[in-house]
This record gives sequence, structure tokens and C-alpha cells, in this order.
Amino acid sequence: MVDHLESGYYPSIRLRRMRADSFSRALMRESTLRVDDLIQPLFVREGNNKSEPILSMPGIERLSIDRIVRKCRDLQNLGIRSVVLFPVIPQEIKSDDAGQAWNPNGLVQRTISAIKDKVPEIGVMTDVALDPYTANGQDGLVDDSGYVVNDLTVEALIRQSLSHARAGADVVAPSDMMDGRICGIRKALEDEGFFNLRILSYAAKYASSLYGPFRDAVSSASNLGESTKDSYQMDPANSEEALRETALDIKEGADMVMVKPGTPYLDVVWRIREAFGMPTFAYQVSGEYAMLKAASQNGWIDEQSVVLETLLGFKRAGCHGVLTYFAEQAAQWLNP
Ligand code: PBG
Repeated sequence: MVDHLESGYYPSIRLRRMRADSFSRALMRESTLRVDDLIQPLFVREGNNKSEPILSMPGIERLSIDRIVRKCRDLQNLGIRSVVLFPVIPQEIKSDDAGQAWNPNGLVQRTISAIKDKVPEIGVMTDVALDPYTANGQDGLVDDSGYVVNDLTVEALIRQSLSHARAGADVVAPSDMMDGRICGIRKALEDEGFFNLRILSYAAKYASSLYGPFRDAVSSASNLGESTKDSYQMDPANSEEALRETALDIKEGADMVMVKPGTPYLDVVWRIREAFGMPTFAYQVSGEYAMLKAASQNGWIDEQSVVLETLLGFKRAGCHGVLTYFAEQAAQWLNP
């Protein structure tokens, strides 16, 4: 027998009372996951009517521009309102100076125009970083010793951002982690009259081992080889540094800030949301997707309930939205 006097507030307080029925559980629910919260990353490739599976990301494909446009229509019908584009650049046009990154007729630039032409209401976000375009797979330009140089890279990122803006992008999302790039990009956008072009900064992007399937998807893994991105992406051990990174990006003119990867970094999301109250996002990255898919396909976890639980976790941690390869699927689950 429980001694009621010895046990404090029990039984006047029983937290299980509110959990007893579905209606009262619903009434006290603090976080909700809506289709509006989801941003779909898309891999675009050259060609016509092409779709090519990515082995380490079951269910995700590299799509040619015509198929991307169709995909955007489907996503819009499901209620998804924004996409982020990642290009698969043919090896033969990758180079040391990443010049294709700002080609006005490049793959990303043509994709942006095609989407804005055919599905204008969907928000088009673009990745700003050089890794799909560099022969060495690094996000920036390197010197003779292989070190990724900051300021020259920022100049290249500015050219890349302007080319996306001119093609009609709604949001540029610098994922490169160079110092000062938000400030440089913001100033260049203002100078060209792109006053409302939003910047989603990958403010706290970690040097994570969870990007492996993505590097397969955009075929940069072989370019990178044994090299790492440790000299610019953040050490997974740090979160004070994430606050400093984020504070700077906000001062430099970011409209939205993002943490990447997602689930292992929810503490960082929470600290950033609490500290700045900014529109805050997280990226559930390719390795997270691959792990969830592999376990689901083996029948070891229930895909729908586990994935929706992970996505709700982002909301509870303070995210306004999530970039996730599950966006399309989750939209179908949420609004069957
Ligand atoms: C490149 C970039 C990467 C991802 C998004 N943009 C890879 C990297 O930094 O090496 C990873 C996304 C994912 O794993 O899903 N700047």
C-alpha cells in the first residue's frame, strides 16, 4: 500500500489522468507536425524523362528537370510548399574553380526557372556551396596545400547566389560554413535589388559522418576521397560554438537559421531557438534517412510511426520546419 501522506501530492495529482483518453491527450498536446513544416530536398540531373535510384537512399531518385517539375506539382498537391535543390553534376564539367556553379545556364539555374515557370507558388530554395562542382569535392576553393581558402570561396559563393537569384530562386541556403558568407551574399543581393530574397543559413553545420549517402547521391564522394571537411564544418563536440556561429549569421543578415544534421543535434536546435527566437530549421540528413529506411525495410521498426515520431521531435525541440527526405511520404501519412 502506498502511504498517501508520505508520498507528497499523490493522489491529488495523478499525471496519468490526462493520458487516460484520446480526447484529453489531444487537449494537452504541445507540439504538432503539419505538412507545412516539411521541406523536400530534391536531386536534379541532366537529361529528359530520367529517374535514377540512389542505392543508399531507397525511395529517393535523381530526376531530370521535366521530372522535377512533375514532382513539384505532386508535392504541391500534397500540401508541401517548398523544395531545396541539389544538382548531380557530370564529372567532366567539375573543375578546380567550380565555374559551373554560377553558369547562368547551369543545371540548377535551369531547374529553378522551370519550376518557377510551371509551379510558381512552390518556394524554391537552393544550396549554396561548391562541392557538386569542385574536382576535389570540397565546398570551397583550395590552395596548393589543399586548404579550403575562405575569402576567395566567399566571392565564388556570391557569384553562385546571384546566379540563383537571377534564375528566380526564392531562398538561397549557404551550406558551406565559410566565415562572412552571409554578409557577402546579403550585400550582393541588396546591390542587385533582390531585397526579398531570403537567406536560410546553415548556421551550425557539423562535420558529420551522416552525409555519406548524400555524397553518393550527388556523386561527390569519389572526388572527396579520404579528405575531410573538418577545417570548416563544426566539431560534433561543440554547442557554444554553434551559438556564436548563429549569432554572427543573424547579424550578417540571415532570415532563417538551420542546424544540421538533425536528430543527434536536437540540443543545439533547442539552444538556438531559445537564444535567438529566429525562424529555426533542422536538416534530417541522408544518413538519418538511410538508417530509418534500412531498419524499416528489415521490418525491425514500424516506418510510419517511427518517422513521424522523429519529425515531431524536431518540432518539440523548437524547429519551425524540417528538411527531410521523408517530406513527401510524411505528407501522405499526415493527410491520407
Ligand atoms: C554540401 C551539402 C552536404 C549536404 C547538404 N549540402 C554534404 C556535405 O556537407 O558534405 C548533406 C545533406 C545530407 O546528407 O542529406 N554543402
